[in-house]
Amino acid sequence: MKTRIGFIAAVVALAALVSSGCAAFSIGLGVTKQLTPSQKAFSTVARVMRHPRCLNCHTVTDFPRVGDDRRRHRMNVRRGPKDHGVPGMRCSACHQARNQDEAGVPGAPHWALAPLSMGWEGLDDHALAKSLLDRAKNGDRSLADLVRHMAEDPLVGWAWAPGKGRRAPAVSRKELVDAMKEWVAGGADVPPPGITSY
Ligand code: HEC
Ligand code: HEC
Repeated sequence: MKTRIGFIAAVVALAALVSSGCAAFSIGLGVTKQLTPSQKAFSTVARVMRHPRCLNCHTVTDFPRVGDDRRRHRMNVRRGPKDHGVPGMRCSACHQARNQDEAGVPGAPHWALAPLSMGWEGLDDHALAKSLLDRAKNGDRSLADLVRHMAEDPLVGWAWAPGKGRRAPAVSRKELVDAMKEWVAGGADVPPPGITSY
């Protein structure tokens, strides 16, 4: 009897070991099956945030980036003290409220670099979610404010009408807003570290 219980305990322990090993393995491979519905919805949001149309303004450096290859902006354009450029080289000197396709200059109202606290370059899904949620970094926005920003902000909207020769994100704006709502409805669950959704 004793050996039998010992045997069963050993089998149970072994099964636990194997299954925990498997879980770690699949998270390592980025298998999204392990995620909660809220976390899964966030991976759609992260795919958009990581798109060059967004990332080219949401930089962690002193300058904007251009194009899908995210090359440095010409003419040494810089962030400046308030993210609107330096004196004599303000964003609004060239970027108007709408695209100027003949001149090849993109435009939308209030064109500026996103503040450094809203820089997303190099962040995994986990860090992107934490950055969005941090009211000290996100412009003191509540979850409802964030959903509204995604749905209504003209700079966000520009990404889906970026002008001649520029590519919009594969996820539509409606899909982005739906994913934001689903993420929030599920408690704005932050995905585990190590996942990068494209
Ligand atoms: C032309 C530059 C520009 C582009 C393009 C742009 N943004 Fe922004 N973004 C900004 C600026 C500037 C702010 C800060 C405005 C404010 O706080 O009112 C901002 C703020 C935000 C915020 C709120 C702050 C935060 O970190 O939570 C979100 C969310 C956001 N942008 C999402 C996006 C997404 C998604 C895209 C692409 C679909 C995008 N933006 C494209 C410039 C840009
Ligand atoms: C001297 C004119 C000029 C100034 C000043 C200027 N830009 Fe630009 N910007 C351009 C032109 C022209 C393009 C198009 C370049 C191209 O597509 O090769 C461009 C493209 C961009 C893009 C690329 C969009 C994309 O996804 O491809 C971003 C982002 C951008 N500018 C942000 C800014 C910001 C932010 C400022 C102010 C800090 C600024 N620009 C100041 C002329 C200017």
